Amino acid sequence: MPAAAQPADDAPASERPAVASPSAINTVQVEIDGGVPMYRIARLGEPVVEPSPLGFLLEDAPDLDGPFAITAVDTSSFDNTWEQVWGEKRFIRNHYNELRITLTEQEAPGRDLVVTFRVYDDGVGFRYEFPEQEGMEQFRIADELTEFRLTGDHESWYIDAYQWNRFEYYFENTPLSEADTVHTPLTMRTDDDLYISMHEAALVDFSTMTLERTDSTTLKSNLMPWGEGDRVRVQDTRVSPWRTLQLADAPGDLITSYLILNLNEPNKIEDTSWIKPAKYNGIWWEMHLDKSTWSPGEDLGATTENAKRYIDFAAEHGLEHTLVEGWNVGWDEEWYDSGKVFSFTESVDAFDLEEVAQYARDNDVRLMGHHETSAGVLHYEEQMEDAFQLYEDLGVRAVKMGYVGHDTEIERPGEDGETQYEWHHGQFMVNHHQEVTELAAEHQIMLNVHEGVKDTGLRRTYPNLMTREVAMGREYDAWGGAGGHPPEYTARLPFTRSLAGPFDYTPGMVDLHFDEHKPDNRIKSTLAKEMALYITIYSPLHMLADLPENYEERPEALQFMTQVPTDWHDTEVLNASIGNYITMARQDRNSDDWYLGSITDETGRVLSAPLSFLDAETRYVAEIYRDGTDAHWEDAPYDMVTEERLVDNTTDLTLRLAAGGGQVIRFRPATEEDVARLE
Ligand code: NOJ
Repeated sequence: MPAAAQPADDAPASERPAVASPSAINTVQVEIDGGVPMYRIARLGEPVVEPSPLGFLLEDAPDLDGPFAITAVDTSSFDNTWEQVWGEKRFIRNHYNELRITLTEQEAPGRDLVVTFRVYDDGVGFRYEFPEQEGMEQFRIADELTEFRLTGDHESWYIDAYQWNRFEYYFENTPLSEADTVHTPLTMRTDDDLYISMHEAALVDFSTMTLERTDSTTLKSNLMPWGEGDRVRVQDTRVSPWRTLQLADAPGDLITSYLILNLNEPNKIEDTSWIKPAKYNGIWWEMHLDKSTWSPGEDLGATTENAKRYIDFAAEHGLEHTLVEGWNVGWDEEWYDSGKVFSFTESVDAFDLEEVAQYARDNDVRLMGHHETSAGVLHYEEQMEDAFQLYEDLGVRAVKMGYVGHDTEIERPGEDGETQYEWHHGQFMVNHHQEVTELAAEHQIMLNVHEGVKDTGLRRTYPNLMTREVAMGREYDAWGGAGGHPPEYTARLPFTRSLAGPFDYTPGMVDLHFDEHKPDNRIKSTLAKEMALYITIYSPLHMLADLPENYEERPEALQFMTQVPTDWHDTEVLNASIGNYITMARQDRNSDDWYLGSITDETGRVLSAPLSFLDAETRYVAEIYRDGTDAHWEDAPYDMVTEERLVDNTTDLTLRLAAGGGQVIRFRPATEEDVARLE
């Protein structure tokens, strides 16, 4: 039986059901206050969420906002360890105590609403259940009343919601009281140094939750609306996504919390033998640099010949996929305005799809497909069955999806025949992406989704949903108004965007200046930092995004980038400060090697890295790639030193990171020869 939390005031405990996490770290307590159901969360006895209301306003039925009474309380415990098909950690323990509360309306129509809390040592998740009952076969949610009454004006990192360019903005860092309505994950630090990440898990057949600040430090669920203005249409799916709060004493512990994955349903894909983490290159960066074009003409990037050149590079360096953008009909039209111009099965004249796919297979590489829909969702849906079938027939194993489009540009016919306009994150698009994920799985295709819905851990249930962008990716380095991401950006990512899930950031730049094509932009990192992003940003599909010819100039960086795995047995955070620096160590899932990656913002640092994660019985060769003494992102980014030394799990390394710099280390078990050579 779960440990019961102590009631906080005088009411009988039976009226205020409570549950504590397995090690009694976090507690949740529920009570009825004037007919309104309220929950509160405490950590080690200190409030994290003050009593906050639950409930819904409905459009076509009486509101579900009380007066309620608690009519049933069920508690249970769960503890098992499950294996990820791929990921940043192979075995994950799912250990929680559950409190399931049935609320019954005390006035007609007397309906039930169920709320389930799962309380973990690393946080809390709760969701609503809408039991089938008379008058509630299907209904529309006008507003979710869930509040999170936080205990102070916490330092916060977030992206504003309801913006024109979706999630593609820099993370703000302000006191909570300066936030308006924000996307999740929302990361916070309290004055007492408690770290909180608010997000949601298992977003299925519902609208994305944003958080609206309604009062000084109170947040309220704000669901992205349909074109018609209602928020959610409840029919077959009778549960909401989980509303989550991860709680930690150190920022790195937010990264190694697997609460979001634990709250998702287990894998539904029986045969996963075709789902494989990998690396890829592709005809991509050259278009962002304006070296070639997506549209047909003499500068077209996607020619058969050019594709073969990239495939040759992939084959030579063991990359599994080559992406080709601009291969299909439509890019010479006004595609940016409307995706209705695209064909997803016809290639342009200069690109022989069958020949390229065959050439790739002959070289043990796979063509990575590209479906840029430009948010013409219905147009795409008409073709997507054929499009995935075509790719399957050609041996394509991964497809990059695109939904370039802004604001509420996504068109669909409304119920009254009028065109309605949808956000990228409302229920309409959540359901579209679900359909695409299931269709792709039927064709044994892995997905890499750009401009999609934020990750809420669905990769556990559908492990072909590999990675996403849904943030500012690498392309802004080529043409973004900031002239390239500020060095701080990548030091914020592990604590913000990456808390949601894998990120197709497309690292791997070795040519950090592109004066010939984009003189006002550059990569604001040292070369060693660029290499470290393979560790500090998790993605099961990572790109070597630079041009093949540029890698020839930087063989040491290329050697590391081809070696670094994308599937891990375990992940540890050695030191971390949000937006300032992070050092992570990851253990390869398929060998005895470990990899360490450390990055900093625009401030140089000396960090200590104890190697206690290494196996105690083994000596390792540390293959070190570090910033040189004079390195600096601005004027000496290529100054990098490579060296080897023997280490073991008692070694304390000192990492010297240049301004905008980084370091990577591969640890491999030493052979006798290594010991003789290096001792
Ligand atoms: C935006 C994507 O993020 C980018 O990677 C892609 O190249 C363009 N759309 C074109 O599809």
